[in-house]
Order: sequence, then structure tokens, then C-alpha cells
Amino acid sequence: MKRIGILTSGGDAPGMNAAIRAVARKAMYEGLEVYGINYGFAGLVAGDIFRMDEATVADKIQRGGTFLYSARYPEFAKEEGQLKGIEQLNKFGIEALVVIGGDGSYHGALRLTEHGYNAIGLPGTIDNDVPYTDFTIGFDTAVNTVLEAVDRIRDTATSHERTFIIEVMGRGAGDIALWSGVAGGAEEIIIPEHDFDIKQVAEQIQSGRDRGKKHTLIVLAEGVMHAQDFEKELDKYGDFHARSTVLGHVQRGGAPTARDRVMASQMGAFAVELLLEGKGGLAVGIENNRLTYHNMTDLFDSKHHAELSLFNLNHDLSN
Ligand code: F6P
Repeated sequence: MKRIGILTSGGDAPGMNAAIRAVARKAMYEGLEVYGINYGFAGLVAGDIFRMDEATVADKIQRGGTFLYSARYPEFAKEEGQLKGIEQLNKFGIEALVVIGGDGSYHGALRLTEHGYNAIGLPGTIDNDVPYTDFTIGFDTAVNTVLEAVDRIRDTATSHERTFIIEVMGRGAGDIALWSGVAGGAEEIIIPEHDFDIKQVAEQIQSGRDRGKKHTLIVLAEGVMHAQDFEKELDKYGDFHARSTVLGHVQRGGAPTARDRVMASQMGAFAVELLLEGKGGLAVGIENNRLTYHNMTDLFDSKHHAELSLFNLNHDLSN
């Protein structure tokens, strides 16, 4: 193996640049040629590919987003798209790839492996919804971004004795809500992985108020419902001076935290080692603080599980 490619796919996540840098630097150190593929699988099909050198990845580790750009490209699920991608790999002499993205992106990576182009997947998404890894690249940064917002909202919530519903991202997963909720001391965390009863939430808010609480913070995962709909439902059970805030894409940007940079660097270098061993169709993870890998097919057959002990802990600590 002489040449490898790197691409980022799906929603961007802080730390992707650190991962690209690690893959590129480690591969170059091992004597490989490295090609950057812009715009994920869409760029692969379009042949938007360029040779990288050490300088290409200089001054990137601290930057948010992905300097290789990203795209969602469902067309790559079809064989026609895959064959076009393979045509480009052959044209550039790329024999293997590292794909950084959510587990959706791993389907494309597995198809390439099946066609004889080994691909290793790195979990890059703020949602933390990838099985077989405790954390994904970008999650820690997103949680810290949300936490900063929660702290700020707490100030104004207290001044006006208001209830705030803060909607956070995560797609179908409640991890961002769970971690930022616990860290921010939220009174309620509402996630898709746990039932909730709006009447009980209203009663909790009321009992908090009766005990002299000056504010109520509710961190709501987007996978449950929209904040404004939640607010309307809550209004039916009393006047809690509720306001909604949707944090949106601010959660996707910004400089990666140290934790995301370090994890991305570890995973990136590990992916190159696996390729050098002739392996493909694998997804890298971090489990119990150790680098691991699993067959991508195992990931498709399983589901990420949110850390529900945090939900229970928050219930004990915040009411
Ligand atoms: O998967 C990352 C994520 O930010 C989700 O949390 C969110 O639901 C989705 O992407 C938003 O997608 P888009 O940027 O395409 O609107």
C-alpha cells in the first residue's frame, strides 16, 4: 500500500481537523502518500481530490469544522455512485481510505472495503450516537458549548424567575442533553431514551418554586420534540414564565476541546496502523479509555446506549 485517502462525511464536528492531521502525519511518517478528498463521498465521486503534504495539515489542529469540507451524499448508497467513486480511486492510485463521520458514513466505507479498497471509520459527530465507542469526536466540544449557554441562561432565568427550555442537538440520541444537563445543574433533562410526563414536570417546577427556587432549567433533546411545543404543553399546567431557546448549529462549531483533539489524534494514528496491517471495514472506538475496533457490520446491528445513570443522578441531585 502506497497511497491512502481521507474524507469527512455527514455533519461536521469539532476535532475532525485534528483527526485528519493525525491520519496525514502518521501516514506520511510511515512513508505513505496521502490524498485529501473534499466534500466527503460527493467529492470522491466528482474527483475533488488533492495530494497532501505536511504543510497541508499545519495550523489545523485547533480549528473547528473540517477543512476537507463535508456533505451528506445518500447517492453513494447506490452501486452506481460507488463505481464512480472507485473510478476516481483508481485514477489517483488510492488503495485505502480513512472515513471520518457518523455511522451513516460507515456504510459507504464498508462498500468500498467490499470492492477491495480497505476503509477504516472514525466516529466524528457531535451526537455521540455511534455504537462501540464511549465517545465520538466532537461530542465533548459540543457539550462544553451547550454548557456555556446553559450557564448564561441560568443568569437571566434567575433574574426574572423564569423557566427555560433549552433545546439541544443529538438527533435521536440524548447524550448532549444528558451531559450538559448534569454539568449545568438542570432541574430537568428530557431525552428520547427515557419517558417523561409533562404534568409531573409541571409539578416538579411548582414544588421547586414553593421551596424558593428562582429558576428552572430544562434541557430538552431535539429527538423528543421542539422546545416551543414543549413550552406550549407546559403552559397548560400553569404559568411558569417559560421561555424557549434553540441552540442550533452553534453546537457544531468552535475550537475543539483538548479532550476531542487528543482523542482525534489517537484515533487517527490508530486508523493508519490498522490500514498498514491490511485491515479494512473496521470502525475505531474508544472504550474504557482504550482504543478499540469492531467490524462495521457489528455497528449496523447494534444501537448506541445513552448513559442512563446520569439521568438518575440528575434526578437525585437537582430536585
Ligand atoms: O448529526 C449532527 C447534527 O448536528 C444533529 O445533531 C442534527 O440533528 C443534524 O446534524 C442537523 O443536520 P443539518 O446540519 O444537516 O441541519
